[in-house]
Amino acid sequence: MAKLIFANTDEERELEDDSPLIEPCEEAGVPFACTEGVCGTCVIEVVEGMENLSEFTQEERDFLGDLNKERLACQCRIRQGCVKINF
Ligand code: FES
Repeated sequence: MAKLIFANTDEERELEDDSPLIEPCEEAGVPFACTEGVCGTCVIEVVEGMENLSEFTQEERDFLGDLNKERLACQCRIRQGCVKINF
């Protein structure tokens, strides 16, 4: 099992390994629009556990440019372990 923690609300969600982030993030209040990695509405900040997320998609590389702490929640999956995000 994997765990997603929302740093700003202290909410936690247990997820299957390799789950998309879109559903738990949407339920926690992260806004989404295109869900295809082009609009940037769903940008989240990864506070801890970036290594537990899937590889950056081409859409994320194009949109984010500088691959540092930010991800597009519609594009990434949690591979395993614990990931803490802020939105
Ligand atoms: S919802 Fe548009 S980039 Fe994720």
